[in-house]
Amino acid sequence: MEYRQLGHSGLMVSELSFGTGTFGGGSEFFRAWGNTSVEEAKRLIDICLEAGLNLFDTADIYSHGLSEEILGKALEGKRQSVLISTKTTFRLGKGPNDVGSSRHHILRACEASLRRLGTDYIDIYHMHCFDALTPVEETLATLDTLVRSGKVRYIACSNFSGWHLMKSLAISERYGWARYVGHQVYYSLVGRDYEWELMPLGLDQRVGALVWSPLGWGRLTGKIRRGQPLPEQSRLHKTADLGPPVAPEYVYKVVDALDAIAQETGKSVPQIALNWLLRRPTVSSVIIGARNEEQLRQNLAAVGWKLTPEQMTKLDSASELVPAYPYWHQRGFLERIPLPVPPAKPS
Ligand SMILES: NC(=O)c1ccc[n+]([C@@H]2O[C@H](COP(=O)([O-])OP(=O)(O)OC[C@H]3O[C@@H](n4cnc5c(N)ncnc54)[C@H](OP(=O)(O)O)[C@@H]3O)[C@@H](O)[C@H]2O)c1
Repeated sequence: MEYRQLGHSGLMVSELSFGTGTFGGGSEFFRAWGNTSVEEAKRLIDICLEAGLNLFDTADIYSHGLSEEILGKALEGKRQSVLISTKTTFRLGKGPNDVGSSRHHILRACEASLRRLGTDYIDIYHMHCFDALTPVEETLATLDTLVRSGKVRYIACSNFSGWHLMKSLAISERYGWARYVGHQVYYSLVGRDYEWELMPLGLDQRVGALVWSPLGWGRLTGKIRRGQPLPEQSRLHKTADLGPPVAPEYVYKVVDALDAIAQETGKSVPQIALNWLLRRPTVSSVIIGARNEEQLRQNLAAVGWKLTPEQMTKLDSASELVPAYPYWHQRGFLERIPLPVPPAKPS
């Protein structure tokens, strides 16, 4: 396992981290992901630690706090050897202030997360989404207070637009406050929009990507193929429309390319999809998801080898899409706006 710097910070994170959205199964939506118990979580965490993985990701919204609670219990006695990332912003109660990135909500949410996790500090605290109603100054001043108090070590954001992140970074800089060093983003071989705006921004500003749903919300698993019914057990039965929107034909085309490389390499479809992400600029850590031990072990073996440049190009070509404006227009001026990853010829 390699360790990578989290953006413009001194924190080293393992190139694979483990996402705990599958812990708890506390609602119909999360039950479709999984319902890992404390005992099973302990086992999965031990497997991660043996593999050298040091970062575990959760959020207050996952199973309404249950994922944090299970992670906290499963990590008892191991806190010093791991990094915990959690998040707030989404609605957790019915009240007008049970949502958002206001001072009121962040401070209360942070205390609640610390309690559920059974720890006195959070290593990476994310704003789960941009809150356009709260002044950016209010959010960042509050986060800076949490960093200075030692309750939070590093701050990060998730699902921000380019301007949300750039405005936030500029305000942190203006006041000398803690700045976002990580951006938890959706990025996969069937979701490359991250490359258009957020990747160049991440490179320019040294904000590391923590990649969520690296298998495209459970699609690049080798179980989803043209002309084949969904497997009996899959989150896609109940949540396909609630995750990243992806056209089935696009998934099949990318899976065809993954299958061809699986034949050449003897690696599995998810291993190849994860390895592709690990080769992309700005990626600090890829957050893997696993319903069970078998999936976890397979995904952990996505490291320690590299796709060849030719294999990377084949995957780039199979997954290439025409970008939205102004990015397609800017591709006519590569001389002065070079891209972090050169556009491939669509196959
Ligand atoms: N910041 C955000 O907004 C955000 C959003 C979503 C997720 N996240 C984070 O990212 C983590 C990972 O997201 P994700 O679970 O959506 O990732 P993903 O990699 O796209 O999907 C993981 C799912 O794919 C299937 N799978 C995984 N490995 C497999 C294997 N080797 N063989 C066969 N099937 C396999 C399993 O589902 P089935 O068993 O159902 O097939 C598993 O739950 C989450 O736990 C969370 O920490 C963050």
